[in-house]
Amino acid sequence: MTATIFLLSCLLFKEALALTGSFWHITDMHWDPTYEVTDKPELVCASSGKRPALSAGVFGDYVCDSPWHLINSSVYAMKSILPDPDFIIWTGDDTPHVPNEDLGEEAVMNIISNLTHVITEVFPRTKVYSAMGNHDYHPKSQIPAAPNLIYNRTAELWDHWLDLQSQETFKKGGYYTEKLLNRNGYRMLVLNTNLYYDQNQVTQNMDDPADQFSWADQILTEAGTNKEKVYIIGHVPPGFFEKKRHKPWFSPKFNRRYLDLIKKHHSVILGQFFGHHHTDCFRMFYNQDGLPISTMFLSPGVTPWETTLPGVVKGANNPGIRVFEYDTETLLVKDIVTYYLNLTHANVDRGRWEKEYRLTESFRVPDASPASMHQALELMANDHCYLQKYYEFNSVSYDLTDCDSDCRVDHVCAAREVDFYRYEDCLVKEGAASIFGGWQLLLPTAVSLVMASW
Ligand SMILES: *[C@@H]1O[C@H](CO)[C@@H](O)[C@H](O)[C@H]1NC(C)=O
Ligand SMILES: *[C@@H]1O[C@H](CO)[C@@H](O)[C@H](O)[C@H]1NC(C)=O
Ligand SMILES: *[C@@H]1O[C@H](CO)[C@@H](O)[C@H](O)[C@H]1NC(C)=O
Ligand SMILES: *[C@@H]1O[C@H](CO)[C@@H](O)[C@H](O)[C@H]1NC(C)=O
Ligand SMILES: [Zn+2]
Ligand SMILES: [Zn+2]
Repeated sequence: MTATIFLLSCLLFKEALALTGSFWHITDMHWDPTYEVTDKPELVCASSGKRPALSAGVFGDYVCDSPWHLINSSVYAMKSILPDPDFIIWTGDDTPHVPNEDLGEEAVMNIISNLTHVITEVFPRTKVYSAMGNHDYHPKSQIPAAPNLIYNRTAELWDHWLDLQSQETFKKGGYYTEKLLNRNGYRMLVLNTNLYYDQNQVTQNMDDPADQFSWADQILTEAGTNKEKVYIIGHVPPGFFEKKRHKPWFSPKFNRRYLDLIKKHHSVILGQFFGHHHTDCFRMFYNQDGLPISTMFLSPGVTPWETTLPGVVKGANNPGIRVFEYDTETLLVKDIVTYYLNLTHANVDRGRWEKEYRLTESFRVPDASPASMHQALELMANDHCYLQKYYEFNSVSYDLTDCDSDCRVDHVCAAREVDFYRYEDCLVKEGAASIFGGWQLLLPTAVSLVMASW
């Protein structure tokens, strides 16, 4: 009897294993070629903008973008942790945070080229789905809604990853779609959401830059007809920055339109994977009845660079990379394992990438489905213990200070509400201390207009 049960559970276990695939997500590498350890802390790297790099070492410094050593180390860490993933998603931002005058089109292309090269070299047989970041253009964030030389050259650099049709749509608008791993019934949608970034001055007067919304609507409608399951990847996410209250990235009209797209097609969308924050967090999407219908996972960046966004405290992070485990039949995201490099430790001892946490263990949820992620969100909203864990993971275990009540509201509302008005309502409902008064209710993006660059 016991033997039978044992045998049976073994078989079930085996079957479950067979259905589980995994893929890497790497994002925001931000290579700074000027990085060099010297005895003048202000001169270690251009990306510090003269902030002193006080603990600069071979792996980097918290006020700098990544030295090559860190980039190389992150890609080789992927190889040694999980050498044969089903595929890799790479969501952009390759160049350093420096003034446009310090880069130029050639420098941007060279950086994209070097990063493409190291990923290709280490994973020569792995399919990579690659999205552009707002820093992968010159001038930064001004990504055009029309064909241009950078789309062309990037499509050429990535021609071993993109099929012919993808190269064509990429050259037109920086986006593409393909069957996921060439399998019928599965699809990857790679979006160029830099077109919706409120810092992008060339797209603000357009209704549908590069026709991407109508294209995505059509692809997702067809996916519904053909019973496909879809993953979406992109760089700049909709919704709000959890480290700065009232700070969104998208312009209001584009934020609304993105949300409508997801609500309309959520039944075929099994996951959304984005970057840009450099932090580890997620965003929930709900239907009219308040039921969770989709989740966007924001993966931490490789660069440890401390943000210069005014008002953000402790805005650095440890370098992070992550593995998603998924059901290869349903595309359900089953688990997330985040690996990180303790930068302080790496500089004084040796570079050791270690497991930071596994989602299902740390948040006691069965998987990473929208229902489970909603459960995780409610746990952290109501239990300080879970909130504190979420907070420490948010900076990839860089900031281990206490997450107080204002911090709680910022993280909970950013994760819960992608919609601008519902986010403001959430702040009120969750009892945010009113620092600025109520005027942002009318002008949710006013604050964002004063910030320079990300
Ligand atoms: C990259 O990392 C690998 C593995 O640690 C190492 O063998 C190689 O020498 C490194 N290359 C550079 C250019 O740092
Ligand atoms: C970047 O690419 C250029 C041109 O291929 C090459 O000369 C250079 O060594 C590369 N740099 C690194 C750090 O790999
Ligand atoms: C981009 O490449 C296409 C062909 O693939 C070419 O027709 C077009 O002129 C190029 N555009 C620019 C701006 O170089
Ligand atoms: C990172 O390393 C430093 C130096 O060894 C140590 O003080 C710190 O606690 C470590 N952080 C974590 C999250 O382990
Ligand atoms: Zn970035
Ligand atoms: Zn970005």
